[in-house]
Amino acid sequence: MANKTKIYIGADHAGYEMKGEIKKFVEGLEYQIIDLGTFSTDSVDYPDIAREVAEKVIEIPDAVGILICGTGIGMSIAANKLQGIRAAECVNEAMAEFARKHNNANVLCMGSRLIDLEAAKKITQKFLETEFENEERHVRRVDKMTKVWPK
Ligand code: RB5
Repeated sequence: MANKTKIYIGADHAGYEMKGEIKKFVEGLEYQIIDLGTFSTDSVDYPDIAREVAEKVIEIPDAVGILICGTGIGMSIAANKLQGIRAAECVNEAMAEFARKHNNANVLCMGSRLIDLEAAKKITQKFLETEFENEERHVRRVDKMTKVWPK
């Protein structure tokens, strides 16, 4: 992705600490990253954060999201409720690579209780640096999810 790509990041209380580290890491890669919370370890509901990030990804052209909760599962379920969101939970770099290449994923979800920070950084970098393979079969499949299915 181009460095002008806007990245929106969010986490619940379980992902709060990892979010701070990933945000710094992404800034170091010279992307624009906007933190939509949560801003403390006080308990919050992951669907609220997922929705805020997902709405930005839909609204802002070419934006992508990063969502972190304890497992990454709740964030991915919640974000994928919004039309146009393709949220992929990734626990390794291969998943991040193919989520971008084949699925044109626009939200990366990670679980702070499943992976360590070093893995999260590698996954994040792979996700941001891998382009969608713009081949007809991948475009057709992604379009089926994005345009053809009803709301
Ligand atoms: C919070 O305890 C936890 O349920 C949440 O972070 C996430 O793992 C949900 O999927």
